[in-house]
Amino acid sequence: MTFSGPPGTPGSRGVHPAWLPDEAFRPIGSRRTLLCGGGPLAGTVHEEVASACARYGGSVRRRAAGPDEAPEAVPDDGPEAGPDDGADDGGPYDLVLALTTAGPLPAVAETALAGFRRGPAPGGGPAVGPDIGPDIGPDIGTDIGPDIGTAGGDEGIGDEGYVVARHDGVTVVLADSTTGLLYGLFHLVRLGEEAFGAARPAEHHRPAARLRMLDHWDNVDVHPVMGQVERGYAGGSIFWRDGALRDDLTRVRAYGRLLAACGVNAVTVNNVNVHATETRLLTDRLRDVAAIADRLRPYGVRVHLSVNFAAPVALGGTATADPLDEDVRTWWAAVTARVYETIPDFGGYVVKADSEGQPGPHAYGRDHADGANLLAEALAPFGGVVHWRAFVYNHRQDWRDRSTDRARAAYDHFTPLDGRFRDNVILQVKHGPIDFQVREPVSPVIAAMPRTRVAVELQVTQEYTGQQRHVCYLAPMWSEVLGFRPWGPAGPGVAHVVAGDVADGAAGGGLVGVSNVGDDPYWTGHPLAQANLYAFGRLAWAPSSDPAAILDEWIGLTFPAAGGNDATGGDDGRLREALHEIMDDSCGTYERYTVPLGVGFMVRPGHHYGPDVDGYEYTPWGTYHFADRDGVGVDRTRATGTGFTGQYPPPWSEVYESLARCPDELLLFFHHVPYGHVLHDGTTVIQHIYDTHFAGVEEVDRARLRWAELAGLVPDAPHARVRELFAEQLRCAEEWRDQVNAYFLRKSGVPDARGRRIP
Ligand code: GCU
Repeated sequence: MTFSGPPGTPGSRGVHPAWLPDEAFRPIGSRRTLLCGGGPLAGTVHEEVASACARYGGSVRRRAAGPDEAPEAVPDDGPEAGPDDGADDGGPYDLVLALTTAGPLPAVAETALAGFRRGPAPGGGPAVGPDIGPDIGPDIGTDIGPDIGTAGGDEGIGDEGYVVARHDGVTVVLADSTTGLLYGLFHLVRLGEEAFGAARPAEHHRPAARLRMLDHWDNVDVHPVMGQVERGYAGGSIFWRDGALRDDLTRVRAYGRLLAACGVNAVTVNNVNVHATETRLLTDRLRDVAAIADRLRPYGVRVHLSVNFAAPVALGGTATADPLDEDVRTWWAAVTARVYETIPDFGGYVVKADSEGQPGPHAYGRDHADGANLLAEALAPFGGVVHWRAFVYNHRQDWRDRSTDRARAAYDHFTPLDGRFRDNVILQVKHGPIDFQVREPVSPVIAAMPRTRVAVELQVTQEYTGQQRHVCYLAPMWSEVLGFRPWGPAGPGVAHVVAGDVADGAAGGGLVGVSNVGDDPYWTGHPLAQANLYAFGRLAWAPSSDPAAILDEWIGLTFPAAGGNDATGGDDGRLREALHEIMDDSCGTYERYTVPLGVGFMVRPGHHYGPDVDGYEYTPWGTYHFADRDGVGVDRTRATGTGFTGQYPPPWSEVYESLARCPDELLLFFHHVPYGHVLHDGTTVIQHIYDTHFAGVEEVDRARLRWAELAGLVPDAPHARVRELFAEQLRCAEEWRDQVNAYFLRKSGVPDARGRRIP
């Protein structure tokens, strides 16, 4: 695997190329390309193709832009460009990348455009429309549709969309914007040689969600407890080091490139917990943010900032941070105007307010709508948005008080405010009601705010799923969340809510992921955790994608030897098959050896790695399993418990309320049951706990051995890294198995029906 890449790719300095190794560009780089049009990102597209051509012997010609194009659109055949082949459009070409505005277009591009405008042929055929898929699938999203929609072609290709077609031996990518062109180029990279194979009628792709954002929980100063990156498991920050912006931001540009190649278009550059130094990013440290924005802009990635709600006071501007105070409004308006003077395409603010000790409007007797609207008002003139987080709960509760239920908190705080938020406020809701546990129901808030833009937040960093020491491919879990239909099988799904595709609903707020990236050579610590970052982007673009297909795509790109883009034809699929075996159900495996039946939070307090069944049981954080000698689980029913089931619309309010109908995997989230309670598969709860914990460890061991067999098929360095991590995963899984099984054996006194050894 070679690591050169276009300028800005740090591969030569030992950083892993992730899903963009040089080989992925061979099919494009060995062909003749015509690029028509100019504009903000056309230079990036040209540079990508030219650099691939320099490596693989192809050529690229950039044709003059149309009269209405920006000045930088001048034709520019770089030194790497090949000969101008003459002919009317300069042909012959194998690939034409064209803006629809760059006319007159080459004949092949006109044909593709006409194909797109005609829409799908009668009786099926290729399609146009948003990548949400015609059917987001059943309640738990196991059968979700294709990633290409079926709308007509009248509305144009769209801001970030593109059309791909191939006929008469020429592949064509068309877009209305250069951002779309860049996404189209990366589509071809994913297709590999297939992009230049059989003819393909015009296919239209555009993202389901407008905002596809990664939040970095990176600190500028090294935090005494949380370090440089809060919940970061991949080394330091790619942006910050020891209180300052990093000197060399080459890697930030390479990161933007990886993000564009999977569809992410926004990044928050600092932690949601905004400490003293980070508060100043808004004002006297703004240049640092601008420098990051400069590196990400060529790849269509905008920068957002987490801000401290009390910034006006903290920075000495005003005596109060009361959102209704005139001076405070003036302060935010002035500061925000300066942000946009410095970073004209700035995305907006992210705010964690009145949550886990962060300041917020409650201190002034105001509510979250007052607080969010204050910032939204300041951002509105510039088109910015405020992501206001719904992760608000009482973290100082008394464990003796059984009426307080952390799961209820976000809904109780925010649903009374529905309809009060300005249009440019996005309520950012964690996917589950608690906190990124491996098994939670979907948060009821997502379905309860019809007049508010809602974004769903996923955790790509593996805080509760093995901290990038364990293999845990999270896309199947996310896909279940996105496919969940809160109003029942006939209603829209979570993916429709975030896309704003719900009748009479607000515009969508998009998908947000907490980044798992650091300055580690593999980006994500565990080399296989790269697949989570990739899958996040792909699902944000096309929520109906099949997680196994995304993984397959990632394998083909990341390991050219697996056959994806490798001209040699690869290894007969052995690596691909093994990686699917290891990764497809790795999240299920993790769930089996850790927390049973949706109970959650049996982790070591503080760092959250490894088992501690009672670790949080008697703390103020409010997450309990209530295990005693007779049974286990949290009664969240309306009949006898906290009433949380009532936060769901029907049918789920009834399904979760009913002991008989509640899905097994969530049983202990909603019900307190005796150990002898029989699950739908006929097993008792206690036996299920024992069985899954034994099975989970066996699965880890099998995956570990399977990986060992891949020596020689995977390059030595990542192979060795993953081999070491598997040893730790197995050790930790055994610890989980033994602690959880021993704990419940001692509580219940019920022996394992299969007589296995429980310490
Ligand atoms: C979790 C995590 C914290 C983080 C918080 C949040 O509780 O452990 O580190 O700050 O989520 O999402 O705000």
